[in-house]
Amino acid sequence: MTSYMPPSERVWWKTPIGRDEVLWIGIALVWCLVMFFMMPYWHIYGKQNLSNEAYQTNAIQFQAKVDAMVAAHQVREEAHIPVVRPPAGSDVYMLGRLWQWYPILELEKGQSYRLHLSSMDWQHGFSLQPVNINLQVVPGYEMVLTVEPDQAGEYSVVCNEYCGIGHHMMLGKIYVTEN
Ligand code: CUA
Repeated sequence: MTSYMPPSERVWWKTPIGRDEVLWIGIALVWCLVMFFMMPYWHIYGKQNLSNEAYQTNAIQFQAKVDAMVAAHQVREEAHIPVVRPPAGSDVYMLGRLWQWYPILELEKGQSYRLHLSSMDWQHGFSLQPVNINLQVVPGYEMVLTVEPDQAGEYSVVCNEYCGIGHHMMLGKIYVTEN
């Protein structure tokens, strides 16, 4: 019998299931359950999935918060982009837009910050390298995550969501200083 021929027994569903088939169904079921419970397990212990908050916002509101932070805490400029050094423990903001991350943040090692992210226009991807933290950044939503940088250095923010002709140039920066 093949799958494209009608079964020889018309009442095929009363045929007992073979033992090896039951075994495979059992293995598949157990594996499904393992995979299912790995989702919450990995969320808690995998150190990869970010527990984040999201709020509704819009481009005008979010831009206002970014501008307020830049006005209060700008320390210098790099290639016409302000470098901002907000106080330790504060709320810090970064926006994505075609094709730029704005502004450049300078954070202090070992201090905790609440990082707010949003997009002004299209969907962008916040990919923090080389630590490989990834988040979708979408217009209309303000994502908030608590970050505590544990290593000083220069980090790149790479857009990893295709956003048009300038996508590959959409690079941002976060500095982490010793103190
Ligand atoms: Cu922004 Cu790709």
